[in-house]
Amino acid sequence: MRAVVLVGGLGTRLRPLTLRTPKQMLPVAGKPMIEHVLAHLAEHGVEEVVLSLGYRPDAFSRAYPDATCAGVRLVYAVEPEPLDTAGAIRFAATNAGIDERFVVVNGDVLSDIDLSDLVTFHDAAAQRSAAQASIQLVGVEDPSAYGVVSTDAEGRVSAFVEKPPAGHAPGSAINAGYYVLEPEVLERIPDGRRVNIERETFPSMVADGVLHATVAKGWWIDVGTPERYVQATLDLLDRAVGDPTVAVAPSAMVATSATVTRSALGPGCRIGRNARVEDSIVFSRAVIGNGATVRRSVIGASAVVGDAATVTGLSVIGNDTEVAGGTSLDGAVLPTPDTWAT
Ligand code: GDD
Ligand code: MG
Repeated sequence: MRAVVLVGGLGTRLRPLTLRTPKQMLPVAGKPMIEHVLAHLAEHGVEEVVLSLGYRPDAFSRAYPDATCAGVRLVYAVEPEPLDTAGAIRFAATNAGIDERFVVVNGDVLSDIDLSDLVTFHDAAAQRSAAQASIQLVGVEDPSAYGVVSTDAEGRVSAFVEKPPAGHAPGSAINAGYYVLEPEVLERIPDGRRVNIERETFPSMVADGVLHATVAKGWWIDVGTPERYVQATLDLLDRAVGDPTVAVAPSAMVATSATVTRSALGPGCRIGRNARVEDSIVFSRAVIGNGATVRRSVIGASAVVGDAATVTGLSVIGNDTEVAGGTSLDGAVLPTPDTWAT
């Protein structure tokens, strides 16, 4: 089975971490996000993935020069300009010569959902009621940040509303970012312009009665914001078999008097004497000074948190950025957006 994995977005909500790095190459509990995504696909029988690339495609081809990753073969499809989700799927699938039903995955979603069940559901819906596509759904508490989907008793989608205003969602089942598509869907996507699958293609398929969906239970997270980026890391650490609380790169240097709990430490980072790192992500070569505290925050590559500084409350410190010794940051983003050259 083949899959198209969308990894071409700008990752704006994770800036400044994504100013030079695609979101899916950010480290999550010891390896780039994309490797978690691909390993999950491999577990469910996907052998070849077309990576749908746009923003900073070289980051992927440099990291996986032999075009294999986590047990799957990679094909690279680089858009000449951002085509949005449906345009990207059409471009990638057409380039790779896909001509039978295939899987599509939002490349920033981590989960343990059984994708084989989605394929089985789709094949039955295609036979029974000519479904052209099936969407995996999950239940969430606040659906307003996602595509909200309602279905009839047979699983036919009756409404697909992308990011409805709070209080206006037609239910709590949301698009989990996994689809099975028949190749006919590609013919519904106009060529040569941006097309959004959630706002344009899916609603037109709902009107034609050819879109189905099924709800799964299980662990699921979209790693699109700093809060969910930290949460995804904590979830993976909490779920890990073996050492349950930390993912420490072998070359990380942690002072014996430092305390590190539920955190991921990248290669070559240094955690100073009596420093505390809790529920956080520390990138490669970052330095956490003596007596500093980092809690529920992200410290970018080669960033420096000075001695006795405190960084908490989902602060995001960009690569190569320095937090002066003794300062306290709560929910801060550094460098500040006005200085970003995008
Ligand atoms: N190649 C390419 N080109 N990829 C793109 C483009 C593009 O123009 N735009 C976005 N992507 C990729 C992103 O990199 C990401 O992996 C995926 O498409 C989805 O984009 P996000 O920006 O993460 O969307 P979202 O999280 O706000 O919403 C989407 O995902 C939710 C579930 O995680 C929607 O599909 C929602 O309906 C869904 O609930
Ligand atoms: Mg997302």
